[in-house]
Amino acid sequence: MALNMALLAAHVPSMCHEANVPDFQQDLVKGLKLMKERIREMETDVIVLMSCHFPGTFHHYVDVTPQHRGVMTSVEAPDLISGVYYEYPGDQALGNELVKAGVDAGIPVVGFNDPTYIWDYGTVVPLRYLNPEADIPVISLSVCWAASLEETYQWGRAIGKVLRESGKRTIFISSGALSHNLVRGRHHMPSRSEQAMDNQFIEYLMKSELKDAREMLNQYSRIAGVESGGRHLAALLGVLQPEQKAEFWGYGQSSGSANAILSFIS
Ligand SMILES: [Fe+2]
Repeated sequence: MALNMALLAAHVPSMCHEANVPDFQQDLVKGLKLMKERIREMETDVIVLMSCHFPGTFHHYVDVTPQHRGVMTSVEAPDLISGVYYEYPGDQALGNELVKAGVDAGIPVVGFNDPTYIWDYGTVVPLRYLNPEADIPVISLSVCWAASLEETYQWGRAIGKVLRESGKRTIFISSGALSHNLVRGRHHMPSRSEQAMDNQFIEYLMKSELKDAREMLNQYSRIAGVESGGRHLAALLGVLQPEQKAEFWGYGQSSGSANAILSFIS
């Protein structure tokens, strides 16, 4: 198996600079740092990361650029995230394989190789913790607003198959929140109902009850306003297989959203 691990990762903007992380998000930082060690121990060849803040309108994008480099200022929160330099190698060959697998499955997946493209903070923030040395190649994936959860799940299945059959040691990261009906005030927890749904969804993942998680996601994503409409979770469910063992590494709220670090190892 060359998909060594799948990961649900947080990217809340206040985590971009570690010195600014509030107490109630410290467990997220701890969790990501533990995963950094694991990614290193696994001698990971490639990280494939889908971000809720890379919103393809009609297509699922795959950034196959061989060298990613840029200075990122968040368009949503330029006061919090400004002038963040990043530079990571890419993996054009594996990126192209992902594109082909998506197209072959009848999914509108488009690859692009454009050194002027600037990454979003949902991609950059977790990578600052997970691979601070910036030496592991990265393939950045979008979500797609025109895609249903079912289509995104099928795209996740295609991604998982390519990664499993790859000769490379790969990690799939789904970068996004659980419930996400945002309110002003970073310290606010999700509502009790949202927390109940988050907990149930996490429980399904922890017990590898993936069919139940998938069924729940249809309503949960709407009622709890799950980030990106739940698309990053649908893709994660497509990538996962029931024998992958789940572990929980941290939770933190951010402005009424729920954020968790979960890993799934084959
Ligand atoms: Fe986000």
